[in-house]
Amino acid sequence: MSEIKGRIAILTSGGDAPGMNAAIRAVVRAGISKGYEVYGIIHGYNGILNREIKKLDFRDVSEKIQHGGTFLFTARSSEFRPMEGKMKAAAICKELGIEHLVVIGGDGSFTGAKNLSKFGINIIGLPGTIDLDIAYTEYTIGFDTAVNTAMEAIDKLRETSNSHDRCSVVEVMGRSAGYIALWCGIANGAEEILLPEKFDNNYDKLIDTIKKNKAKGKTHQIIVNAEGVGHSNELAERIEKETGIETRATILGHVQRGGTPTARDRVYASLMGAYAVKIIDEGKKNRLVGYKDGHIYDVDVMEAFTMTKTIGDFEYEAAMELANRPD
Ligand code: F6P
Repeated sequence: MSEIKGRIAILTSGGDAPGMNAAIRAVVRAGISKGYEVYGIIHGYNGILNREIKKLDFRDVSEKIQHGGTFLFTARSSEFRPMEGKMKAAAICKELGIEHLVVIGGDGSFTGAKNLSKFGINIIGLPGTIDLDIAYTEYTIGFDTAVNTAMEAIDKLRETSNSHDRCSVVEVMGRSAGYIALWCGIANGAEEILLPEKFDNNYDKLIDTIKKNKAKGKTHQIIVNAEGVGHSNELAERIEKETGIETRATILGHVQRGGTPTARDRVYASLMGAYAVKIIDEGKKNRLVGYKDGHIYDVDVMEAFTMTKTIGDFEYEAAMELANRPD
C-alpha cells in the first residue's frame, strides 16, 4: 500500500440536516480515492474531546446516502466552547495525526471551526443547516428537504382548514431566519407570512387583513409563522377572539429536520463533500465550501464571517401580492 497523504477527520455539529450523510460519504470516498485516511468523529466537537473517533473505510459509508439525520451523531458542546476546549481539541487532533478537519454544520459550528484553526488545524466547513441562514452560500445542506417536508404538511393543513372554514397558524422552523417560512409562504400560497426579518409586530394590522380576507370571500386562511416570531398558540387564540374565525395553531417542529433527503440535498451535499477533499488536496487551508451563481466554490473562513444576508423585499412583497386579492 502506498504512503498515505495525510489524515482527514469529519464531524457533524449543531442541528442535524438531511443530506449530512451524503456529505460524509463523499468526504470518506473522495478522501480514500485521493490517498488519505479518513476518520469519523462521533457527537460533534465533543467527540474530539472524548476521543470518539473511528477510521472509516469505503464500505462503511454504503447505504447511507438515502437516510436523513447523521450517522456520526451531532451535539452542541459546552466543553469545546471556551478557548481551552479548542486548545485541547487541537492537541488531540495533532496527537492523532489529524491535520484536516471537515466540519458540517451551521454558523455556530463554523465559529468553533474558525477558532480551532488558530491552533494549527486546517478546517474546511460544509454548510449543513435546514435554516439556509449562512451568508456566504445560496444553498445549505438540508434546506430543500426541510422546506418540502413543511410544504407537504401545510398542503394537508390547508385541506382540513378549508373543510372547517378555519384559519390555521402554522409555525415552521427558523429561530432567527425566515427562509423556510418564506418558501412555504410562496409554495403554499399562504395568506400571511410572519418572518423575523420582516414582521413589524403589528398584530392589529394582521388581524385586520384576516378580517378583510374573510369579507372578500376567503373561507379559510393559512398564516405561516416562523419560529423566530413564535407565540403561535397565543396568536391563534387572539385571531379567533378578534375575528370570530375558528383558528388552530400547528407547530411543525423537529419533524422538519428528519426524512429522506431530496435529490438536490443528496447531490449538492455529495458534490460539496468531494469538493472539500479536492481543496484539501490542492493545499488550501481554512476554507468554507458554498454554492454561488450555479457553482460550488470556497471562501476564506475569515472572509465568510464578514458577509451578511437577508430576505429581499421583492421575494417577500411578491409572496403577499400573489396570495391576496387587492382591496
Ligand atoms: O437546525 C436549525 C434549527 O432547526 C432552528 O431553526 C431551530 O431553532 C433549532 O434548530 C432548534 O434545534 P434544537 O431543538 O435541536 O436545539
